[in-house]
Amino acid sequence: MTNLSVDKKNIDVILVLDFGSQYTQLIARRIRESNVYSEILPWDIDESKIKKLKPKGIILSGGPNSVTESFTPRIPQIIFELSIPILGICYGMQTLAEQFGGQVISSQKKEFGHSELKINSESKLFTGIEKKLNVWMSHGDQVQDLPDHFKLIASTATAPIAAMEHHSLPYYAIQFHPEVTHTSQGIKILNNFIFDICNTSPDWKMDDLISSRISEIKEKVKHEKVLLGLSGGVDSSVTAALLHKAIGNKLTCVFVDNGLLRKGEAEQVMLTFKEHMNLNVIKSESAEIFLRHLKNIDDPEQKRKIIGRTFIDVFDAEAIKLKDIKFLAQGTIYPDVIESSGSESNEARVIKSHHNVGGLPDEMKLDLIEPLRDLFKDEVRKMGVELGISKEMLDRHPFPGPGLGVRIIGEITKEKTKILQEADFIFVEELIKANLYNKVSQAFAVLLPVKSVGVVGDERRYAEVIGLRAVETVDFMTAKWSHLPYDFLEHVSNRIVNEIEEVSRVVYDISSKPPATIEWE
Ligand code: XMP
Repeated sequence: MTNLSVDKKNIDVILVLDFGSQYTQLIARRIRESNVYSEILPWDIDESKIKKLKPKGIILSGGPNSVTESFTPRIPQIIFELSIPILGICYGMQTLAEQFGGQVISSQKKEFGHSELKINSESKLFTGIEKKLNVWMSHGDQVQDLPDHFKLIASTATAPIAAMEHHSLPYYAIQFHPEVTHTSQGIKILNNFIFDICNTSPDWKMDDLISSRISEIKEKVKHEKVLLGLSGGVDSSVTAALLHKAIGNKLTCVFVDNGLLRKGEAEQVMLTFKEHMNLNVIKSESAEIFLRHLKNIDDPEQKRKIIGRTFIDVFDAEAIKLKDIKFLAQGTIYPDVIESSGSESNEARVIKSHHNVGGLPDEMKLDLIEPLRDLFKDEVRKMGVELGISKEMLDRHPFPGPGLGVRIIGEITKEKTKILQEADFIFVEELIKANLYNKVSQAFAVLLPVKSVGVVGDERRYAEVIGLRAVETVDFMTAKWSHLPYDFLEHVSNRIVNEIEEVSRVVYDISSKPPATIEWE
C-alpha cells in the first residue's frame, strides 16, 4: 500500500482508512478529483502515522469481513481521539455502529446492485441531494438497531438503516457506495462530507502529487541507484520521467529493442527520453536474439513465452553490467494490482511479467519502487503531461508486451515484421489524419498466414494479406469492433496495397470481444 509521509505544506488531507474493500482506491480517487488530497492507510496502521498526517476528516472504507465475528477489523481508538469528522461506508458503517453499541446482523441474502434510497431526515451529508435516489449496494451484513446517540437519516427497502448520523458529533455512516458511478449524486455526497463537514479547501493539484512523490522517492532512494525497464508505454514512461525528476542520473533505464516494435518506435523512445529529456537510457539492440529464439515457432503461446523469457534474459544481461543497483522501479498502476490480486488491500507485490524482478539474478536483490501503484490510467496520463511528456506519446493506444510478435500470425521473420510495420504505420497515420485515432481505443494491422491473388496493372500478384483491427472499449475486457467509415477503410486499403508491394489484399476484422480477443494471438 502506498504510504505518503511527506511534506504536504498546508494542504488539507482526508484519510481513507482501509478495511479491505475493492473500492477503497476509488474513494481516494474521487476525493482527488475534487482537488482535495487523500491518502489511504490500513486500518491497523501505527497511531503515529495517523497523527502525523493531521487529517481534516476520515472515511472508513468497506471491507470483506463481518463485524458479527470476533477478531475482525475495528476502528482504532486514535480515530475518535482526533475529534474530526468521520464517514463510514458499508463495513465502515457497520463497525462504527457496532463500536457505539448498535446491532449489526448478517442477512441471509447478500444485496448487490441498485437500490432506491429514501432520505428521511435533514442531514448535512445530503444537502442538495434529491429525496429519492438510486444507490449502489454491495453487502451481506447490515445495521439492525441504531447505536445510542445516532439518528436514522435514510433507508432502502432492504436496508431500513441505510444511513445514520450522530446527534452531536460529526459522525456519519452510509451502507451504500457513493464512490461508484452507479450511485447517482455519489460525488455530491462525498463533496458534502469533505467540504461542508470537514471544511477542506480544494487546493490540491497534480503538481502537489508530483512533488510529494518526488520527496518520497528521494527519501527512499537516498544516494542509491535505480534501474527501470523502459518500454515506451505510458506507465513506464511516466515512471521514468518522475524518477528522473526525483533522482536525476541515479536512474538508469534499459530499453529493449526486440525488433517487434511499431515502425519508428525505438527511435521515438530514444529521442524522447535520451535526447529531449536527458535520461540515462541504455538501448539494448536485441532484435537478432529474439528472431533467433523465435525461428520455426508458430504456436501463439510458445511465441509469447519465448518473447517473455528472452526479454528477461536480455534485461538481466544489461542489468548485471550495471554496478551497485539497489532498486528496481516498475510502472505498475492501480488496475494492474486489482487485475492480478483481486483486491487493492492485498499487500502482495504484483510484478508485471515483462519487468519481472523474479527473473533478475538473485545476487542483485533489488528492492521495488512503484510510484504509480495507487493511480488510475487517466491520472497517470495527467501526471505525464505535467512532467513534460508529449500528449501524442501519452495518448498512444496500448501496445502488448510481445508486440508485433502476436500480430504476425505464424512464424515471425524479419521480412514479415517489416511488411507489418509499414501497413500498421499507414493505418495509424490515416487514423490520426482523419481525426479517428482518439475515437477508437486500439487499432492496428495484423499479418495473416495466407497469400492471395491480386492484379496490379497487368500483372498477377500472389502476395500477403493484411487484416485491420479497430475496437472501442472502456476496460479492454470486452470490446466492440469500430464501425470505421467505408470511405476511410477504402482509402487505407488502397494505400496499403499500392505502397507495400508484398501485400495484395486488405480485410477488416468485424469481430467483437467476446468471443474474439482484441489481439489475434
Ligand atoms: P486481448 O487480446 O486479450 O487483449 O483481448 C486485451 C488487451 O491487452 C493487450 N495485451 C497485452 N498486453 N502483454 C501486454 O502488456 C501481453 O502479453 C498482452 N496481450 C494482449 C491487448 O493489446 C489489448 O489491449
